Amino acid sequence: MIKSLKINKSLEQYISKNSYDLHPVQKEIIKHNEKLGRIKKMQISVTQGYFFQFFIKTTNIKKILEIGTFTGYSSITMGLALPNTGSVTCLDKNKVTTKTALKFIKMANLQKKINLILAPALNTLRKFIKFNKKYDLIFIDADKENYKNYFDLSIKLLNKNGYIIIDNVLWHGDVAKRNKNDKFTNIIREFNSFVKDDIRVEKIILPIGDGITICKKV
Ligand SMILES: C[S@@+](CC[C@H](N)C(=O)[O-])C[C@H]1O[C@@H](n2cnc3c(N)ncnc32)[C@H](O)[C@@H]1O
Repeated sequence: MIKSLKINKSLEQYISKNSYDLHPVQKEIIKHNEKLGRIKKMQISVTQGYFFQFFIKTTNIKKILEIGTFTGYSSITMGLALPNTGSVTCLDKNKVTTKTALKFIKMANLQKKINLILAPALNTLRKFIKFNKKYDLIFIDADKENYKNYFDLSIKLLNKNGYIIIDNVLWHGDVAKRNKNDKFTNIIREFNSFVKDDIRVEKIILPIGDGITICKKV
């Protein structure tokens, strides 16, 4: 029995050929990010993007909050899957990448659907709680040190039956390696066991991209 597949370039291309067509602006962002060197890996994988689009299209999700926008690939991918009445609010503290994301959002003509907020995410989330804002889906993909804080604040911002999706929960596979005990691997391990024991949500870890956890508020 094959337990899992390594998704190499040609398999990813095969998946792409048989999935949603990439929008020209998604292709542009991939090209742009390729030129950024090491940090290009910040972007969600193309396969994760297909998953997000399927998930959004089939679950009646309308209001999305994204924590960690980078150059806009995940926000535009989600925005494209939303109905016209939907919206994505994106939080990031990096001026340069937020400016790039805005350029791509305009290029995709999604400026009415996607709203960027340039500020440290914790401050914005606390403000949103005060204003009683609610979301159907919250995507956590920013600084790992704050994952637990983002998760706790996100629970308060979720509509009944809303979802939280968290990226990088398998941390290049390092979470399962005994000899890996660096700061970030341990942060992710602690976060994963915290979510496992959290009775406020049902959850599943899926090994797509760098690993995502999907949580549903119960
Ligand atoms: C992994 S990238 C997000 C990738 C994006 N979701 C995509 O698929 O292209 C993480 C982002 O989180 C942002 N970030 C890190 N710490 C933050 C903080 N405290 N507040 C807001 N944004 C933060 C970084 O500037 C970076 O753009």
